Amino acid sequence: MDAETILASQRGSVPRYTSYPTAPHFTDQDGLTIARSRIESLPDDEAISLYLHVPFCDRLCWFCGCHTKHTLKYAPVEAYLGALIKEMATVRATAGRRLRLAQVHLGGGSPSMLRQPDFIRLSSALRREFEVDDDTEISVEIDPSDVTEETLEGLVALGVTRASVGVQDFSEAVQEAINRPQTFEQTRDVITALRATGIHSLNIDALYGLPLQTEERLVSTIDQVLSLAPDRIALFGYAHVPWLKKHQTLIRDEDLPGTMERFHHAALAADRIAAAGYDRIGIDHFAKPGDTMGIAAREGRLFRNFQGYTTDACRTLIGLGASSISSYGDAYVQNIVPTSQYEKTVLDGRLSAMRGVKLTLDDRIRAYIIERLMCDFAFSFDALEEKFGYAARPYIAEARLVAANDRFGLCDASSNRFAIRDEARAFTRIVASFFDAYLDNGTVRYSKAV
Ligand SMILES: C[S@@+](CC[C@H](N)C(=O)[O-])C[C@H]1O[C@@H](n2cnc3c(N)ncnc32)[C@H](O)[C@@H]1O
Ligand code: SF4
Repeated sequence: MDAETILASQRGSVPRYTSYPTAPHFTDQDGLTIARSRIESLPDDEAISLYLHVPFCDRLCWFCGCHTKHTLKYAPVEAYLGALIKEMATVRATAGRRLRLAQVHLGGGSPSMLRQPDFIRLSSALRREFEVDDDTEISVEIDPSDVTEETLEGLVALGVTRASVGVQDFSEAVQEAINRPQTFEQTRDVITALRATGIHSLNIDALYGLPLQTEERLVSTIDQVLSLAPDRIALFGYAHVPWLKKHQTLIRDEDLPGTMERFHHAALAADRIAAAGYDRIGIDHFAKPGDTMGIAAREGRLFRNFQGYTTDACRTLIGLGASSISSYGDAYVQNIVPTSQYEKTVLDGRLSAMRGVKLTLDDRIRAYIIERLMCDFAFSFDALEEKFGYAARPYIAEARLVAANDRFGLCDASSNRFAIRDEARAFTRIVASFFDAYLDNGTVRYSKAV
């Protein structure tokens, strides 16, 4: 197994597999009909998850790959929130009842830039249009530079149980190269304040592959992150996709680490986090032993959704807000992306679903295989047959063929199991891509596999 050859190959750039088929293949233009029919026919006793997207930030980090817009004015955010609340009411009307929520995730952008009255507005709308109880997990993504006393009061009013704090890198040189100033002290104080409000479950996002990142700077960032003792750490590889995100062209190509340097940085950071006692979860997450994500991973109950890894076992995830994606088990649907068009649509009392894809049986079997590989690095042939019956047989044969033809030495197939080799786990996205039937049409460009 030669990392350099693998990463230089055509498989060196592949999807992140937060869904299968991946978003560029949502080609059904009538997403609205799909969304409406799925919401109308949700079984009475089924709890769902909700994703709420806030596509605004009061700063623009040059590395950012999220659907967000820089704004120094608050009025557009307030107006957008009105639209989001209206969309909640439309979902309730479409379902014909208040749907029970198992999980709510508020992401962005930076939902932490909401002002206290808007957190309260959101909280009452959520509880008016949906059933929220003591077991509902409510999580929020936080940019520490936004957090004031008012934000903390807002988070408490919303009933937030988990927070995810963006760090990326603490060294000044890297922060300058990505336009994201943020001191360790500022981050530490926000984490302390979040804990003091009763939010005890905290995640920190860190990145490797950033411009001007050196081994020394990365190790120092990881050590500072570890000193904050978060329950979970997400260590993402910077996805440099300037053909999709214009502002990433502000990052100088010559400042970016090379492919092999990225590969070594990823391993160095991951080993350091694991050596501090964290469990490795999937390809880029870490959790303290005893954290629900670590337990779920050990018990084969880890899943993948549009936010990455999750313990959320709900079949249905409804995404509200501009660009959000919903997952209905047998279909995915994406909402309108431009914020103004989204607001106009939902304020007219309509769902904002735009394009989607209904999963064929082939899609569903491949989606299952890819999700298990991304979460467990393996899948069992018995489990596949138990889930899909005889239809699973050709895919078991295909898995054996994939292992037999794997010129990189990344995977093995035994009589009952297909598995990624322990030493090849860094290449999990590449192995998952061997089962991706859409990849070879070559029309979409992806970020680096590691
Ligand atoms: C919505 S942001 C988190 C909340 C807040 N906006 C912040 O930046 O602190 C989600 C996370 O996505 C990750 N991210 C953003 N752009 C990325 C990119 N181009 N490649 C990899 N990860 C990225 C960052 O780690 C970031 O913390
Ligand atoms: S990284 Fe976070 S704060 Fe920065 S632009 Fe992206 S979403 Fe906004």
